[in-house]
Amino acid sequence: MLESERLEAVLVFDLLNVRHLCGFTGSNGLLLVGESGAWFFTDSRYTLQARSETRGVEVVEAADLDAAAATAIDAAGARYVGYQAASLTAARRDRLTRLTDAHLVGVETAVDALRVSKDAGELKRLREAAHLAEDALRSVAELMRPGNREAEIARAFHVACLERGAEGLSFETIVAGGERGALPHAKPTDRRFRDGELVVVDFGVRWEGYCSDETVMVPVGDVTEEARGVYEVVLQAQRAALQALRPGVALRDVDRAARDVIRAAGHGEHFGHGTGHGVGLAVHEAPTVNTRSRDVAREGMVVTVEPGIYLAGRFGVRLEDTVVVSETGWEPVTTLPKAFGATFTGG
Ligand code: GLY
Ligand code: MN
Ligand code: MN
Repeated sequence: MLESERLEAVLVFDLLNVRHLCGFTGSNGLLLVGESGAWFFTDSRYTLQARSETRGVEVVEAADLDAAAATAIDAAGARYVGYQAASLTAARRDRLTRLTDAHLVGVETAVDALRVSKDAGELKRLREAAHLAEDALRSVAELMRPGNREAEIARAFHVACLERGAEGLSFETIVAGGERGALPHAKPTDRRFRDGELVVVDFGVRWEGYCSDETVMVPVGDVTEEARGVYEVVLQAQRAALQALRPGVALRDVDRAARDVIRAAGHGEHFGHGTGHGVGLAVHEAPTVNTRSRDVAREGMVVTVEPGIYLAGRFGVRLEDTVVVSETGWEPVTTLPKAFGATFTGG
């Protein structure tokens, strides 16, 4: 990256990128990668931790990380230093500009791009995260019956995850019955499940830093023919997208494969979001799988495939799996079956 951008150093602010590059897991630190070495600046709360868990960097304790990094940049004589604009506030950038003689050059998403292909150790953690979450969800499945509340399920799931060793949730669990399912990112409420409705459960945990992300639809009692029909459209859309996914394919074409199925069923305007996103240290990260995506599938990429149909005031259906792109197509990361009603009995 230094060569392609003609930079002499790069400053890494985003803590997930810092973790990926040098292993630091704390909440305050700044990484400077130069041509002849790398320096990791952190405050006294984290000095010992940083010395024990980082690799390939010299740990420097500093009260003012930006001032210390600026001093190091000037001492090294670096004139052009890259940074990822999306992970830096304008105020902090302005201050850094005053602190150093070097020119700060935005390198857009180049640092994020280093995280896009997962290695075997990352894949193992991603799969372990997914399995932990699935096991926790199975353990609360029997609570999903008429009269129980969305928020009760979300709480019970959270506890079950922590009991199984999860570091936490990768996002706030979505449990949304009936008309609330038409809100793609509904917050669980005290609404009680009613007989005959479909419940969206979008759930994920964090395990050894890595996230899981999966959505199942749980039928409570006998759901209507209409809801069942919409479910089948979403299932076909998800299958079409997965069918299209393999190395070399533009991810917007994977999005299109799902979108075409939903459009053909007359629900084009009821699918407003993208088909998927990357998952790793962050639950949402590069690449994107949507109509505007410029990313191309590559082996080792981990993405979600999550088409949905949302009928305002009535109900919604989304099915989401996380998969890893393989040499010839993809392999599953999440594993709960998505055929109608099979989520817990078939899993
Ligand atoms: N859980 C958020 C998402 O599926 O993107
Ligand atoms: Mn999700
Ligand atoms: Mn997702």
